[in-house]
Amino acid sequence: MSHNIWMVEMSTPGNPRPAPARPDARTDGADGADRPAPLRGSSTLFTLDPGTAHLNHGSYGAVPVPVQRHQARLRAEMERDPDGFFLEAPDRIGRARAEVAAALGGDPSRLALITNVTEGVAIALDSVPLGERDQVLVTDHGYGVVTRAAERRATEAGAVVRCVRISPHAPDGEAVAERVLAAVTPRTKVAVLDLVTSPTARAVATPALLAALRSRGVVTVVDAAHAPGALPVDLGGAAGGADFWVGNLHKWAFAPRAAAVLAVDRPWRPRVRPLVFSWEHDRGFPRRVEWRGTFDYTPWLAAPAGFALLNRIGAEQLRAHNDGLAAHGQRLLVERAGLRALPELPGLGMRAVRLPPGVAEQEHAAKALMVAVRRTLDTRIAVRPWQGGGVLRISAQLYNRPEEYLRLADGLARLVTR
Ligand SMILES: Cc1ncc(COP(=O)(O)O)c(C=O)c1O
Repeated sequence: MSHNIWMVEMSTPGNPRPAPARPDARTDGADGADRPAPLRGSSTLFTLDPGTAHLNHGSYGAVPVPVQRHQARLRAEMERDPDGFFLEAPDRIGRARAEVAAALGGDPSRLALITNVTEGVAIALDSVPLGERDQVLVTDHGYGVVTRAAERRATEAGAVVRCVRISPHAPDGEAVAERVLAAVTPRTKVAVLDLVTSPTARAVATPALLAALRSRGVVTVVDAAHAPGALPVDLGGAAGGADFWVGNLHKWAFAPRAAAVLAVDRPWRPRVRPLVFSWEHDRGFPRRVEWRGTFDYTPWLAAPAGFALLNRIGAEQLRAHNDGLAAHGQRLLVERAGLRALPELPGLGMRAVRLPPGVAEQEHAAKALMVAVRRTLDTRIAVRPWQGGGVLRISAQLYNRPEEYLRLADGLARLVTR
């Protein structure tokens, strides 16, 4: 992928370049709250329905127009000559992998392109030997299906899953690490921990915790679904201090959906067990993990275009914008809807708030609230059930505007106190 392709596209009429972000440009609202100034041209970079407030970038991302077009060109190429396309695909994937690795500070021989974190965690869990009565550690902030994959793997091996309960209000990473380390026993084999948690948008797998687990002989699998693009990532030539590190590119790194990375630390590389056997099996890691026969590889080939766009906008400035806007949204939810802020992960374009006791404590109630917000406010958010009051997460991306959070806050004040 040449970086010039999207630059040309960005200059075409109807697809304007965003102005460079100005992270410290703020507008003061009537309520006196700081609001990051929108980045000019940013809303035209997406094809989102403009009538809807898309405050849930964290769940499925949104693919910018230049990346959509890049992928469309790749698909057209595939349809012009399927034989030629698939013949060359493994080498092209290798080149795309090298670009993605460079963007994440990693080494392309230690990282495989995969479809999503769900898949990557399954590969990691499948690759680690587990014996009877061994323990797999997870937390109650983990992504539901990741926890269930750990449960399935443990059950098959006669091992057990131990879920560490952490208060959503735990003040900082140290308090979280203390809880996790207190649960480690001599039988703890694997810990599956989030770099950024899905329901609560906070960090569990800090470098200090990963190092402490490693020193106790615990294999670490880091669910970094929200990290690429959202936080500065430096895989440091390995797996970010973990044994396995899995991150989505289709959330915050502007890649088309079904693009993710699995980084694996050296000792595990020969032992990585792909979910499917393929023609590339004998080529070893990462090719044996990447190739899955006839498949649409265009999200991976277009992933470098997502990073190129991120850099063109200015990754740091964009993060500052998203962080500031998410903080603004959280403040509105506290001040206007009376909700309680959860501790934040600084620099992240996501924030969470606690709903009142009795609201969204069960799965069906959390879903019902999301549906109500969607129907009555035309707003997309994430709500996860939690005992003592569900957790509501908002995201901020360059297409979002302060007034969308105001609409949510005022609407929620009516919905949750009704
Ligand atoms: C923390 C976390 N892990 C895993 C996933 C699953 O991602 P995917 O559906 O792309 O596999 C998500 C999705 O939102 C997530 O937030």
